[in-house]
Amino acid sequence: MGRKPFIAGNWKMHKTVAEAVELAQGLRRSLAGITEMELAVCPTATALHAVSEALKGSNVGVGAQNMYWEEQGAFTGELSPLMVKDLCRYVIIGHSERRAYFGETDETVNRKIKAALAHGLSPIVCIGESLEQNRAGETVDFVGEQIRGAFADISAEDARKLTLAYEPIWAIGTGLTATPEEADRIIRTAIRDVLASLYGAATAEAIRMQYGGSVKPHNMAAFIVMPEIDGALVGGASLKVDSFTAIVRNALEALP
Ligand code: PGA
Repeated sequence: MGRKPFIAGNWKMHKTVAEAVELAQGLRRSLAGITEMELAVCPTATALHAVSEALKGSNVGVGAQNMYWEEQGAFTGELSPLMVKDLCRYVIIGHSERRAYFGETDETVNRKIKAALAHGLSPIVCIGESLEQNRAGETVDFVGEQIRGAFADISAEDARKLTLAYEPIWAIGTGLTATPEEADRIIRTAIRDVLASLYGAATAEAIRMQYGGSVKPHNMAAFIVMPEIDGALVGGASLKVDSFTAIVRNALEALP
């Protein structure tokens, strides 16, 4: 369907500036020349500038892990869309850790998405259910609601600019993953079908979907071959040159 595969690393709250630059330089070398796939890393805010410099002109893009929606003002501790845009192209919005620990809601996620789009940033929007919701059979309804909330008042044209990361919360950092078949089914029924009801099939088919949650070199291929899955948002395994490179290479090999 013409969706370009996209793998991004979420470095979370790891690495000093020097460590982040070292990782970025290593990835610049190890991932050089890959054009079949979009690649990005999302360092912590303090390292955004240095990592952007280290990856300038390379095939590895840079993203922030969060952002506020106002352009400037008395919002202590926050980054504005202008500040993020100054340094990078992508921004992760609504990661489950932000929702769980820092009070993000579907409404704040929606505001942030709108601000990111208004400033020409490419948002990676995270959704996913908890273990309790999964066990109670509520996944499709819950994720569907997250999608409706995230996309409220967003045009079809803008919707196409988003990448969605389906990350079951119980799979993040735990070593557990959804089975590729199950992740594919959720993305189809809870995400793509809801998007189709909002925007029509053509727009829904155009939106890229990453899987996230304990993606490692050994399981990447099984996810990327699924029809609905266009890549991954990688946490722990994105913190080392070798493992992130192996994920990208294994995905490349598995692509048709
Ligand atoms: P993980 O994190 O790969 O360490 O499970 C994924 C994420 O939170 O994006």
